[in-house]
Amino acid sequence: MNVQFKIWRGDANSGAFQEYNAECSEGMVVLDAVHQIQRTQANDLACRWNCKAGKCGSCSAEVNGMPKLMCMARLSDLPIEKPITIEPIKAFPILKDLVTDLSWNFSVKKRIRPFKPRPPDAPDGTWRMQQADIDRVQEFRKCIECFLC
Ligand code: FES
Repeated sequence: MNVQFKIWRGDANSGAFQEYNAECSEGMVVLDAVHQIQRTQANDLACRWNCKAGKCGSCSAEVNGMPKLMCMARLSDLPIEKPITIEPIKAFPILKDLVTDLSWNFSVKKRIRPFKPRPPDAPDGTWRMQQADIDRVQEFRKCIECFLC
């Protein structure tokens, strides 16, 4: 089926949505459609991606105004009867098209002190932790630094 997209094109100074059509089939995600548009209609369209598996956090964008990983956003979950908008995440300065400047995140990361564990709790050199404390930090261990939150 043919699906209409409105993709933001431009740089830090100016830009606008441009319309594209993509031939979409069952199982496709938004990133597949962007790649098809790049391949067939806009080979200068800038977009960042790496794993296409929701692991690297590179393909962050706003799809229909919602922050999403494009590689995990299934077209079957979107209302395809009207154009699907894709734009760069608004929290960061735009470099080109769907690519934003994330350097602020990495400069902040450099200021975070490395974890230094307290002295071991037990004579055998191990620590005792409550399951509730493990559960609390586990969520942060899953962060893929997509910067959508
Ligand atoms: Fe890696 Fe989407 S391409 S999270």
